[in-house]
Amino acid sequence: MAETLGGWLRKLEENNLLQRISQPVSIHEVADIISRNYMKATLIERIDGYDIPLAANIASNRKMIALALGVGEDEVVGELERRTQRRIPPVLVDDGPCKEVVKTGDDVDLTVFPLHLQHELDAAPYITASVAIAKDPERGVYNLGIYRMMLRTSRETGVDVTAPHKLRAYYQRALEMGKPLEVAVVVGLPTIDLLGSLISSPYDVDEYEVLGGIRGEPVELVKCETIDVYVPSNAEIVLECEMPPIGWTVDEGPYGEFTGTYGGLKMNPVMRVKAITHRRNPIFLSATHGGRRPGRTDLHLLFPIIELDLYRALRQAGIDVRGIRLHPGGAGMWAIASIRPRAPGDSKTALALLLTASRQAFPKYAVVVDEDIDIYDDEQVVWAMTYRAQPSEDILILDGLKAIPLDPSLPSDMPPVTTSKMGFDATIPVDRPRQRFEPCLPPKPITEDRKQEVSEEDLLKMLDKPRYLAELARNYTGTAYRKFLKTMANLRERNLIARDQQGRYVRKQG
Ligand SMILES: Cc1cc2nc3c(=O)[nH]c(=O)nc-3n(C[C@H](O)[C@H](O)[C@H](O)COP(=O)(O)O)c2cc1C
Repeated sequence: MAETLGGWLRKLEENNLLQRISQPVSIHEVADIISRNYMKATLIERIDGYDIPLAANIASNRKMIALALGVGEDEVVGELERRTQRRIPPVLVDDGPCKEVVKTGDDVDLTVFPLHLQHELDAAPYITASVAIAKDPERGVYNLGIYRMMLRTSRETGVDVTAPHKLRAYYQRALEMGKPLEVAVVVGLPTIDLLGSLISSPYDVDEYEVLGGIRGEPVELVKCETIDVYVPSNAEIVLECEMPPIGWTVDEGPYGEFTGTYGGLKMNPVMRVKAITHRRNPIFLSATHGGRRPGRTDLHLLFPIIELDLYRALRQAGIDVRGIRLHPGGAGMWAIASIRPRAPGDSKTALALLLTASRQAFPKYAVVVDEDIDIYDDEQVVWAMTYRAQPSEDILILDGLKAIPLDPSLPSDMPPVTTSKMGFDATIPVDRPRQRFEPCLPPKPITEDRKQEVSEEDLLKMLDKPRYLAELARNYTGTAYRKFLKTMANLRERNLIARDQQGRYVRKQG
């Protein structure tokens, strides 16, 4: 049985990842409530003036993504790699919960949904957790992707198809053919389906098969009422739409973007809603962008997908990559990778790939560390950047690269625009003595009883080979340890032991 949004919210709650607001709130409080508790998803059960509850932020951190995939947080990329390799064809069914209520003609009214303003300067309320599903006008295969839609009238929105994604290409083709593009917009899917809808596939791949692979079971599809498009039956709400062949002709934005800043006013195509179908008691889903914590929004859905792109690129180049993390602080624009350098040049090669290999043009900054550094521990990463790197040798700056024009540090927000990027090699240089970089960690704790007898002969025998003091000391516990220290002092006084270049103790010869 496919996961539903309602079931998924219950699971988030069981895992302490949901704030449920039961008392009625004003629509004007919604954005603030969601963004204040950014580490949790939000379910607002009653909004003044509306009959439909609102859920939001259901994929805003790695814990939620890991839970959706049923693995630990550090296993997300591996699991995604496994699931993206399989294709499971969908099955067609006659009916589904997403069609319990069908509204056509004058009953089509988008304003029944709790469409709140997400940011102070947004042009209008947006439908944001909107998975647009369309068929390639030439090949007939399905594409799925999230595209935000700005409310224009009660039955029309703008749709943001500015980036070079497939929906844009499909629309461009329909435009050339002078035909509308039929699009089903599904609102209210669980996190696993949102994740599946974002996987980018080659043009001849049907993304329902990809979603099946991500779910691990076939997607049940039902036919729309007014357009020739099939939709997942587990959805809460379906907007049956068409994009008329009028091109990029209506104003869109400003809107608070993933960067945490506003994108400008631009022109976009229109989405006309022909019918709305939904469950008897639907939950409206909203996706979060920007706000107080731009890295703790539903942008997180893209993190593991980009991490997988980068992971594959590094492996393809023969780099022994141990882990990759997009850092939430930069809203995806910082990547940290840990590697085991095998050959000179591995770390700089890894940096160049991290900065260039993702289709999505993320990240802008990259750091490569050795595998002993925990990439999820920021202090360890900054420590490695500080003490394992020399700025004059270990910073790589590349210019003229593919950019995300929304980055306000760029001179223009309109293509064509390119960006510069920076990589930081914080691995131990392969040509330097490793010992200088060894972290000074506490000696390994010993709890069990060790030897009680200390003899000079034993110690001298052990010191036939150079050894650090801790290595000798851990053989003795209790009073024997104290005696060991005294015996070592005696041996030193009598000039029977010395130190080697690395500071290890060794028996003097002769
Ligand atoms: C929350 C969220 C909102 C998004 N909104 C948009 C959008 O409005 N326009 C857009 O072009 N891409 C948007 N994206 C990115 C696309 O949905 C994503 O890149 C998708 O994979 C594109 O499909 P394709 O690669 O199969 O063409 C959004 C992604 C997320 C996570």
